[in-house]
Order: sequence, then C-alpha cells, then structure tokens
Amino acid sequence: MALNYEIRKTPGDTAWFRHDRFGMFIHWGLYSMPARHEWVKNHEEMTNEQYDKYFKYFNPDLYDPKQWAKSAKAAGMKYVVLTTKHHEGFCLFDTKYTDFKSVNTPCGKDLVKEYVEAFRAEGLKVGFYYSLLDWHHPDYTIDCCHPQRNAPDWAALDEGKDLKRYAKYMRDQVTELLTNYGKIDILWFDFSLQGKGKDEWEAEELIATARKLQPHIIIDNRTQIEQDLWTPEQVQPREWVRDSEGNLVTWELCQTFSGSWGYHRDEQSWLSPEMLVRMLVNTVSCGGNLLLNVGPTSRGYLDKRAESALAAMGEWMKYNSRSIYGCTQSKYTAPADIRYTEPEEEGRLYVHLMAYPYYKVWLPGLQGKVDYAQFLHDGSELRFTEKEDGIEIDVPRVKPDSLVPVIELFMK
Ligand code: GLC
Repeated sequence: MALNYEIRKTPGDTAWFRHDRFGMFIHWGLYSMPARHEWVKNHEEMTNEQYDKYFKYFNPDLYDPKQWAKSAKAAGMKYVVLTTKHHEGFCLFDTKYTDFKSVNTPCGKDLVKEYVEAFRAEGLKVGFYYSLLDWHHPDYTIDCCHPQRNAPDWAALDEGKDLKRYAKYMRDQVTELLTNYGKIDILWFDFSLQGKGKDEWEAEELIATARKLQPHIIIDNRTQIEQDLWTPEQVQPREWVRDSEGNLVTWELCQTFSGSWGYHRDEQSWLSPEMLVRMLVNTVSCGGNLLLNVGPTSRGYLDKRAESALAAMGEWMKYNSRSIYGCTQSKYTAPADIRYTEPEEEGRLYVHLMAYPYYKVWLPGLQGKVDYAQFLHDGSELRFTEKEDGIEIDVPRVKPDSLVPVIELFMK
C-alpha cells in the first residue's frame, strides 16, 4: 500500500528532493582564514579595512572541488548547496556588481564555476546559498547583527545608504547566478532579522526574478515569504514540520559537525559518527531531509575531521541507504529506542535500532503483517515469532558492526 501524505504544494519541484533526503552544505569564504567562525567579522566588530587582510591574502591553492564532490557522493549525499556569498559579502563567483570577489584575490578564479562543474559531473544536484545580509555592501544599513552595531558614529556611517539599491544588487546577482551556471536546483536565501524582512529585501521581486530564470528551482523560506522549503537549523525535530496552518511541508534540517559553519580550527565539539547517522535517521523518520555542513579550510580542502565524518556516513550509507532514499515517516508508531522509515511505494518497513537490545526486538502492533525479516546491512535472516499483540524478532547477542543496525521487514 502506498503512503499518501498530503504535503503542502509549492511552486518548485520538490519530489526529487524528498526522495534524495541527504545533501551537503558548504560554507566557504574569507572567514575560513581567521578560522574562528563565519561570523568572526561580527563577533569581533571588525571594519571593512580590518577584514580586508583576508581578501588580500585569500589563496586556496589546494581547491579541488572534484575531491569535495567525490567525498559527498561517497557519503551518500545526493545534492549540494554552496555559499556563493555569505554575510561577509564576499562573492565566490565572478560578478559585474562588486569587486569584492574571489577573482580579485590572489586566487584569481570563479570558484562557483568549478564547483558547479565538479558536483554535476558526480551526478549531484546543485544549489546556491545566497546571504541576504551583507556586511560589506555600501548600501547595507547597520542593524543589530552588523559588525559596526556598536560604532559610536554608526548613524554617520549609515548616511546616504539606500537599501533599495542593495535590493537591486541582490536581484542582479541572483540573475547572474541563475544565468551563468546552467540548471540550478536549489536557491537558499539566508536570513531575515529585526528590521529587515521581505519588504526590505523586496523579496517578492527577488523570488520572481529567480523563478523566471529557473521555474523548477527550490527556494527556502528565509526571505520571509513561504516558498518550497522549511529549514530548521541545529535542532532535532521530533515530528514532521508543519506550516502555520498545520499542513505537512517539505523540510530540511541543516546541521554542522561541530557548531561553526565556516572552518573552525579550534572547535572540539565534533559530533560522533554515530550521532550523525542517528540524526539522519531521526530526520527521515519524521519526513525530512538532512543538509550536513562542511567548512573547507582556506587552502581549499576538507580537513581530516570532516573527511572522516563523511567517510563514516558513507560506510553506513553503503549498506543502509535503502532505508533512507525514497523513504519517509512510517504509518506505524515505533516503540522506544527505535525509528521507523518506510518507502513511499513498497511494502517494506525499516526498523532502526538506536540502542541495541538484549536478544529480542519487540514490535507491537505488527502481528500478522510481516512476511520476512533480515538485517539490511548483510541481508542475513532474522527469525521472529508472532504474538497476540506484536512480533518478537531474535537478534544476535553482539551488536553488528554498524553504527545504527537496521532491520528490513518485508510486509505481507
Ligand atoms: C545562520 C547563520 C549562518 C549560517 C546559517 C545556515 O542563519 O547566520 O552563519 O549560514 O545559519 O543555516
């Protein structure tokens, strides 16, 4: 029996997105040089002149997006979203509208172009993150999140600024991004804040500009106008995300390995591989996607910590991706320490053992419904007993060598 959830219809093409479930977020910019958070300019209240030293020396000589794309693919990721411009205002692409771009640093390249080509070649869908905030643009006014928020002369600094010109700048850049790089699958705007929202961004026009160029594109909600994608961040939703009217929506959890989105040299709070797999499983079991972030170094490579986290995901996905791709929240309610996922079309149920049980897995309510059971990772049979109010599956005494073991049930 097919699952037929009523998911809110939106303008973009989200069917592929809900199927693919797992993507890579990439936060890369000048902030990879100070390597102490992508908000460093704000945290340390730096001026443009102070921040310029990074622009002067930015030179990712080891940039090899083909390697990034290989790592993403091997991790089981199906799509990717790169910061073409983060809050610092620095553009990783060649643009006519500012000099503050990678082409004008010692790097000398349009980094977005190589990125798009590399990921496409590996068969991943390609997305662009574009920051609505801009701490460099001359028309961007000082607000509560701005590096100069505490400057005594902030009012003088703001004189002559015109947010309307900034809104036009964004439209021009989005036009470049959606004209010069072929088909783009996702556009990820970030974000609205006190005093700056859909009116200031001229979001309606911004979105219309994007849709006109690429009608199928998936756009997030952070302009303050609801589009295709709801994006909870650094949390773990326990149920399917809904809009304000209670409709189920297409949603994507974005998450870092350690807290910072940009490369952070000294951060020690890295999540374990097991936690990362659980996060993916939890998310899909609530009908969502996971966008897992890497912050490449300023030399342009993914450091060992990131590569090994990706490799661990890949090792698990290699054997268990059947419980992720094309799967969603189950119609059954899982007991404690278990998460269910279910493919939209087929008669299977995936039982994720978040805590490994003692000898037996008890699944209430499934009596008379299951035809055959096996471990997903090695296809080995698991015998089970029918009881009055459920089934009892025998599992080996020792937890299999899998971060989260999965039982695949073939339903009658
Ligand atoms: C937040 C942060 C930003 C990051 C984003 C990712 O909005 O401002 O640094 O890019 O989350 O979702």
